[in-house]
Amino acid sequence: MSTPRSAAWSPDPFATEVCEYLQRTPRQLPSKYFYDELGSAIFEAICRLPWYRITRAESALLARHARQILAPLARPVTIAELGCGSGDKLATLLSSAAERFPLVQLIDISAAALEMAEHRLRAMGLTSVLAHRATYEDGLEHAVRQRPGKASLLVLFLGSNIGNFDPPVARALLARFRGALREGDALLLGSDLVKPERELLLAYDDPLQVTAAFNRNLLRRINDELGGSFDLDGFAHRAAWNAAERRVEMHLVSRRRQQVHIAAGGLDVAFESGDWIWTESSHKYEPAQVLEEGLAAGFSRGEQWIDPDARFALTRFSVS
Ligand code: AVJ
Repeated sequence: MSTPRSAAWSPDPFATEVCEYLQRTPRQLPSKYFYDELGSAIFEAICRLPWYRITRAESALLARHARQILAPLARPVTIAELGCGSGDKLATLLSSAAERFPLVQLIDISAAALEMAEHRLRAMGLTSVLAHRATYEDGLEHAVRQRPGKASLLVLFLGSNIGNFDPPVARALLARFRGALREGDALLLGSDLVKPERELLLAYDDPLQVTAAFNRNLLRRINDELGGSFDLDGFAHRAAWNAAERRVEMHLVSRRRQQVHIAAGGLDVAFESGDWIWTESSHKYEPAQVLEEGLAAGFSRGEQWIDPDARFALTRFSVS
């Protein structure tokens, strides 16, 4: 049983959403809140885990095909990366041609990530770097508004960030991107592909338990920022492959019967042993499905590069 108090006086969207999501059935927490300073650092560690192959596979594709990816874009090219994280992937893509990009715009919800990325790109000699701390939609709006008049815009949505969204929401997001772009622009989308279940589970439940720490850090963040009373040892990390929905789900499973209080929303939540909180979905795609989704969103053409080992796809969608 939960007893919400009116949250009208509390404008903090973190507090509002945490309390709203914890009262859903099943209980949930929005995955975008993983990325506070510590969460972003743990995510960077995940990207280096041998069992989490997304980042390495995508970086290899970006390095190998940079020329081909960038070639058809009308010059000058402005780049905007949504959810740039550390900026490493963008640096990889631009490494051989940094001087060709008069303006790079970084969008991320995490201040720590933005700082890392901006530093990374300036260190490569890029002087015109704009950072927007924003959600994907707001960030793209900023980026479109700030593009120099004649420049074409390449939007990067990498790392399989699209996988966090349910298919209808992902579709709507792609349509939003398409709507913000004009002829000569392009979207580069990174999508993790369906692969054997045992590989997927190792990627999201690694033997070093770094992903477990990433998951439980969300409870630590709620405790610190919202006056939560989560007992971190009271919740176990779980990764599950949902074959019907083609997604890996991350859960936090209550190890016992317990009560949690969230001061910043006046919420009490009761857990029985085995009750769980759904903290993330990572949808996996088939290559053809990625192309279909882009075309359905209104892009005119899709070109794809696939890493056969890690089963990861980069797709460049053009606008005409
Ligand atoms: C950054 C959302 C793409 O879903 O694979 C990594 C986040 N979660 N390990 C993903 C994540 C657990 C990651 N994304």
